[in-house]
Amino acid sequence: MFIEKLSLAGRSAIVVGGGGGGIGTNCAMALAEAGASVVVADIDEARANDAVAQIRDGGGNARAFVGDVRDGGAVRRLVEQANAAFGRLDVLVNVVGGTRDESWADALDFDSQVWDDDLTLNLKYAFLTCQAAAQVMAKQDHGGSIVNISSASGMRAATRHIAYGAAKAGIMSMTRTMAVEWGQYGIRVNSVAPGAIRTPKTSPNMQEGAIGYLEEIVPLGRPGRPEDIAQVVLFLASDLAEYVTSQVIAVDGGVMATYPLGRSRRLSG
Ligand SMILES: NC(=O)c1ccc[n+]([C@@H]2O[C@H](COP(=O)([O-])OP(=O)(O)OC[C@H]3O[C@@H](n4cnc5c(N)ncnc54)[C@H](O)[C@@H]3O)[C@@H](O)[C@H]2O)c1
Repeated sequence: MFIEKLSLAGRSAIVVGGGGGGIGTNCAMALAEAGASVVVADIDEARANDAVAQIRDGGGNARAFVGDVRDGGAVRRLVEQANAAFGRLDVLVNVVGGTRDESWADALDFDSQVWDDDLTLNLKYAFLTCQAAAQVMAKQDHGGSIVNISSASGMRAATRHIAYGAAKAGIMSMTRTMAVEWGQYGIRVNSVAPGAIRTPKTSPNMQEGAIGYLEEIVPLGRPGRPEDIAQVVLFLASDLAEYVTSQVIAVDGGVMATYPLGRSRRLSG
């Protein structure tokens, strides 16, 4: 009764930013393992194809879509192709996002063009994909599930990366608004806020010192893994979460609850 609700057999999913071997690829693999037919959408063709090959190697069903989801035309093509290929659209996971070197600056000096670019890459595209997917889901008799990846940086001060933090906070607000407006169509909208996750992109920047620091301050004693995020996304995508909408779930090993002391420092008392 309970475990079968985890199954996505016969359903279809789009993972936006599903390449790269990190959070997106793990989300796509998890959804495929649960039985969904998955469209891996990525701006980078090789990354999209790698993820599709991994899923097929594991016995799953996947196809690639190559495009830049900052462009509304590409988003419409993505949703149309997924719907045409599988005849339905059940799950959308928005993973695209991140910072660039220019994204790291004090608010006093933050460049307004970088602000626009960071907001587009981390927030506006997700509005476009959610809207396009929901227009399909709203016409189905079975609704759908949308999961937007936000960040711990949207839940607290995003020191020296103000635009990224504002965009990720925007993802959370957008998620709640869409959940309320689209509940009538059976569309659930939730967000997962990762803490520090070791992915192929972030690992080079996580030096030994940083990992040791995370092991010290994270209550569960380690940085996150991409599969930690994918597992929660799978739950939210599935019928196990059929009465869960508008939520932001932090998947951070508990670190935000410790702020500012970490897990082991005792300052007084
Ligand atoms: N890794 C972390 O520690 C961490 C922490 C908090 C939040 N997050 C969030 O998790 C998400 C994934 O992080 P990751 O480290 O796995 O990222 P990643 O960079 O490894 O993966 C993102 C994928 O999106 C693709 N992409 C980028 N721009 C695109 C575009 N315009 N159109 C289509 N595809 C595009 C990239 O090619 C890449 O394959 C991001 O939203 C990030 O902000 C990550």
